[in-house]
Amino acid sequence: MAKKERELIVGLDIGTTKIAAIVGAVLPNGDLEILGIGTHPSKGLKKGVVVNIESTVKSIQHAVEEAEIMAECEIGAVSAGIAGSHIEGINSHGIVAIRTGEVTAIDVDRVIDAAKAIAISTDKKILHSLAQEYIIDNQDGIHEPLGMAGVRFEAKVHIVVGSVSAAKNIVKCAHLCGLEAEDIVLEQLASSYAVLSDDEKELGVCMIDIGGGTTDIIVFNDGAIRHTAVIPVAGDQVTNDIAVFVRTPTHHAEELKVKYACAISEMIDPEEEVSVPSIGDRPERKLARQSLAEVVGPRYEELFTLVHNELRRAGFDDKINAGIVLTGGSSRMEGAVELAEEIFHRPVRLGSPKNIKGLIDIVRNPIYATGVGLLIHAARRRHQYGGGLLDGSSISVWDRMKGWFSNNL
Ligand SMILES: Nc1ncnc2c1ncn2[C@@H]1O[C@H](COP(=O)(O)OP(=O)(O)OP(=O)(O)O)[C@@H](O)[C@H]1O
Ligand SMILES: [Mg+2]
Repeated sequence: MAKKERELIVGLDIGTTKIAAIVGAVLPNGDLEILGIGTHPSKGLKKGVVVNIESTVKSIQHAVEEAEIMAECEIGAVSAGIAGSHIEGINSHGIVAIRTGEVTAIDVDRVIDAAKAIAISTDKKILHSLAQEYIIDNQDGIHEPLGMAGVRFEAKVHIVVGSVSAAKNIVKCAHLCGLEAEDIVLEQLASSYAVLSDDEKELGVCMIDIGGGTTDIIVFNDGAIRHTAVIPVAGDQVTNDIAVFVRTPTHHAEELKVKYACAISEMIDPEEEVSVPSIGDRPERKLARQSLAEVVGPRYEELFTLVHNELRRAGFDDKINAGIVLTGGSSRMEGAVELAEEIFHRPVRLGSPKNIKGLIDIVRNPIYATGVGLLIHAARRRHQYGGGLLDGSSISVWDRMKGWFSNNL
């Protein structure tokens, strides 16, 4: 089949450091094939949130054009990600009576709606309502309630709320690029589709997506989402620390970080030195790699400790038997996995997108976890790819969100 004839789907990851547009198609056998990818440095975001529409639009346009050329297609609609400290995850509970003696799709919508009746501030709206489990007449642990007999129907639901203006700005940026944002998906939820296995979600796992602006956390247990959180500390802070310590411009600090830094100073040969360009006309200097690690290590340690405290506070520290999965660009730091193992006392692995076909050599990189996850989300929405409803209710996130926006996008 020619590429142009297939129905294409697109994931648009609007990150703090880069924008990635990933184009794919669902093959007749159900596999997801990546056909094109475009990336561009992102300038208009701060800590996961759009703060400059014009710069963001330019970056999206570049990324989308690149992806279009590679996939030989024209992109019209995308699934976009959302992140930032405004995101809140809340566990809620709904109860309804089963009207006809057997659970129908309408009952599922009603019970999810009942769980969504929570107090949220006026500037926020519900982005996702993710069913954790259903309970029918006190029988818990039900995942597929349709057709089951009973009287009393309960649902445990993880509700994700986010700022209306943050979501509106994402939709507006896409709109100004001539794109329709079909869906807006929590970034760590998207990344989890790309990097976690069903076994891990069943056993209990915490995925930590360490990007440039934010560190996004998602916890699964018994196959359901139990907790989501965002920590506004990530790779950009590490780069800033290096820039201040070494007194070098940020782009040099970024290069030093990616090429030579390490999260555990003991892993570095004390004799090893690297050249550092100075500010202005001053000559290059030599810097011990170990001192670079001594700057980076404490920042990663602080970050993992913040995540650990969050897990303890939320009561999930002892419910992640499959351990920790690190993803996002900053998870690629040398020694990050080993340091995380020391802090969490759990097995830790690096998570890259998997179970995909096509440009795997490019996208098998933690940087693309969110982009590929958004693509998987879009594929499931359009083709019921991989089975299962994404959201707790049968109404798509976007259909529910449409009411938030006025026509003047
Ligand atoms: N090899 C590497 N070692 C260490 N850090 C790296 C490496 N490669 C990339 N990074 C860091 O990863 C970060 C970017 O990651 P990513 O692309 O996942 O972020 P983003 O999605 O743009 O941001 P966010 O998700 O926070 O909005 C940058 O801070 C970059 O310095
Ligand atoms: Mg990201």
